[in-house]
Amino acid sequence: MGIVADIAEDWHAALAALSWQVEAGVDEVILDAPVNRYALAAEASRPVKAQAVGVAPPPVASDPVAIARAMAAEAQSLAALRAALAAFDHCELKKGARNLVFADGSPAARVLVLGEAPGAEEDREGRPFVGRAGQLLDRMFAAIGLSRTGEDPATALYITNVLPWRPPGNRDPEPAEIAMLRPFVERHIALVDPAVIVVMGNTPLDALTGQRGILRARGTWMQALDRPVLPMTHPAYLLRNPAAKREAWADLLALQARLNR
Ligand code: URA
Repeated sequence: MGIVADIAEDWHAALAALSWQVEAGVDEVILDAPVNRYALAAEASRPVKAQAVGVAPPPVASDPVAIARAMAAEAQSLAALRAALAAFDHCELKKGARNLVFADGSPAARVLVLGEAPGAEEDREGRPFVGRAGQLLDRMFAAIGLSRTGEDPATALYITNVLPWRPPGNRDPEPAEIAMLRPFVERHIALVDPAVIVVMGNTPLDALTGQRGILRARGTWMQALDRPVLPMTHPAYLLRNPAAKREAWADLLALQARLNR
């Protein structure tokens, strides 16, 4: 009877804990095996032995940005760059992601669209911009004759993101994550060599130009990585603020005019 009662109590306690997490917004399990945080806390609170004088400190972990720079510089093709990213183990986001989301569209395109990071659907499919925001993005560019399925460079689109792995719970990317993945983004752009880059939202604007404030910057041509950059509001923002579509349309027309020059 005692064991049955214990099991029932554990079951109810586990269900209550799970419901609490769902309410708090937890939508996926990050690790394969559970981690006992109570044991870790007890371990962390144990007094640390005083370090002997003259003993060298443990080696500092290598700089992930420098490692990323070296790996990206080695890549001589998009396939090699994809393999380099897949082998890059210094970004924690990789551990929680189902798939590496590299790019979509034609590398021959004149226009490269740079987004922020994959969401849940992109993570599942391994392709950028396939959710609701992505469908809007497709419709927006189709309105000026550009498509990720286009084969002719004049009508094609190439789409990638600053981060190739989904941040848990779609949280904003951290500056350290952007900094360590930036060398891969730069190499990606150099290998595709587009005539124009469209940055959609604050994260790619920041990653390429060091600026934030997409609502002020949108529609103003800038220069980064030796090529013209057009900042635009992210399609997810347009879904939440349909009134802003008018400005996005003006930005698309400005892009079209530049391509027709
Ligand atoms: N938002 C992005 O910025 N990129 C994606 O791939 C999907 C949604």
